[in-house]
Amino acid sequence: MRVAVCPGSFDPVTNGHFDVFERASKMADQVIVAVLINRTKSSLFSVEERIEILTQVTAPLGNVRVDSFYGLLVDYCQKNEVNAIVKGLRAVSDFDYELQMAQMNFRLAGVETCFISTNPLYSYLSSSLVKEVATHGGDVKGLVPDIVLKRLEDKLSSTM
Ligand code: PNS
Repeated sequence: MRVAVCPGSFDPVTNGHFDVFERASKMADQVIVAVLINRTKSSLFSVEERIEILTQVTAPLGNVRVDSFYGLLVDYCQKNEVNAIVKGLRAVSDFDYELQMAQMNFRLAGVETCFISTNPLYSYLSSSLVKEVATHGGDVKGLVPDIVLKRLEDKLSSTM
């Protein structure tokens, strides 16, 4: 696999996402972590903040770069000569929708999707749960990169 893209909202990136990036970076020559610009969904971190955080988090991996995209993922893949989309599958509940998207993306542009089975340590983890727990003062240490812990603290203290 030459160029792989790991798309998502990453609001914020979790250790489950990082595990997928790290494993994808061992299979592909280059991995692009692509943040979806979604104007209809409210987010805790702006796209710029998420890109900044992801850039720091993925820096040790060497062959990973961070970008953003708007519109169809397959259009981004075609413009950037991406060979495959790489997604993490946490549980069977992820499978139905992920399969639908993979089949639609193949139908639209012949873009392949590869699934990585998430490390069981993180199978229950999602950005939404992290935000909910952190918002109510719960401890998310070990579930997100340390830089995200700090950024969550700063963000939540400034918005509450
Ligand atoms: O982290 P998320 O929000 O679950 O990621 C979902 C994402 C960004 C991978 C998915 O919504 C997506 O690919 N959106 C781009 C728009 C698109 O191509 N839609 C058609 C999918 S078949």
